[in-house]
Amino acid sequence: KGCKLVGCGSEVPSLSVSNDDLAKIVDTSDEWISVRTGIRNRRVISGKENLRNLAVEAAKKALKMANVEPDDLDLILLCTSTPEDIFGDAPKVQRELGCTKSQLAHDITAACSGFVLGLFSASCYIKGGGFRNVLVIGADVMSRFVDWTNRGTCILFGDAAGAVACDAEEDGLLSFDLHSDGEGARHLGAPINDNENGSVLEFPPNRSSYACVQMNGKEVFRFAVRCVPQSIESALEKAGLTASNIDWLLLHQANQRIIDAVATRLEFPPEKVISNLANYGNTSAASIPLALDEAVRSGKVKPGHTIAAAGFGAGLTWGSAVIRW
Ligand code: ACO
Repeated sequence: KGCKLVGCGSEVPSLSVSNDDLAKIVDTSDEWISVRTGIRNRRVISGKENLRNLAVEAAKKALKMANVEPDDLDLILLCTSTPEDIFGDAPKVQRELGCTKSQLAHDITAACSGFVLGLFSASCYIKGGGFRNVLVIGADVMSRFVDWTNRGTCILFGDAAGAVACDAEEDGLLSFDLHSDGEGARHLGAPINDNENGSVLEFPPNRSSYACVQMNGKEVFRFAVRCVPQSIESALEKAGLTASNIDWLLLHQANQRIIDAVATRLEFPPEKVISNLANYGNTSAASIPLALDEAVRSGKVKPGHTIAAAGFGAGLTWGSAVIRW
């Protein structure tokens, strides 16, 4: 038994926010943002759009491509760090998809590495747990958690959802390499706000809230360029492959300079590198399935192609998967 990806789908909000739009609210420019990051536009939720309806629409498209009915699913994994409810949204996605059986659905939280961990979890559920049809969704609405007055972070992120349907027929997930390092957490996070009274014993405690995304961009950049190539090399070695055997490099879409540096380090030529962050920015756990879906639907990624995918981000977390589409 294996875990094969048999369908994909994605959904983005309708509101498009350009670099020029951002230059109206913070001291920045299209030139600064595009040269330093490669990002030109991002989509941001508005009106009644939210994480859950993006996730549901992406899921429906993946199930349609896979020709799988919601009730055929055994498991839904929703990889997100920005749920509508801190207890998780996956069971609500299950209900909104129209699943009528009480199959399992739960969230996975690992920031921008969430989708790769979701694929690994799907593979374990299938190989060890007897599950057959598994839906993995990566979705985030970072726009709710960025400080829109901070030009160092608000220019980077966008909202989106992407999904893949997996089945237990043959093995399309060839290897994984997964890591985390809490020591580096200080470089990137959105922590709970500290009680200002610190040592004063108070009961009942104040209602908690989360700080906006705080990031040391240079440290995150260094971490990504150091750890991601090593992780991909390790996953390739486990699969008995080298970069030259791989059709596509698909990294978490955080910064075009990170993507270019990793591709150069691994000797992937630019024509083998999938990138769509110019249009969507960093969509956290959604970025890999969103870019995969575009690449599959445009005919770039074809059945039998191999993909080296890697996620990296807050935690710090990072991980790679070698996928045969
Ligand atoms: N517009 C104009 N100027 C800006 C902007 C902006 N949007 N942001 C920062 N600047 C200024 C700074 O104030 C600084 O000015 P100074 O020299 O007068 O002090 C100057 O530009 C350089 O700032 P740096 O932060 O040093 O710029 P850097 O070249 O490092 O680029 C960036 C910043 C784009 C954030 C880069 O470090 C990066 O992409 N890092 C990786 C971030 C990342 O990938 N984060 C997401 C991880 S995924 C997740 O898990 C959420």
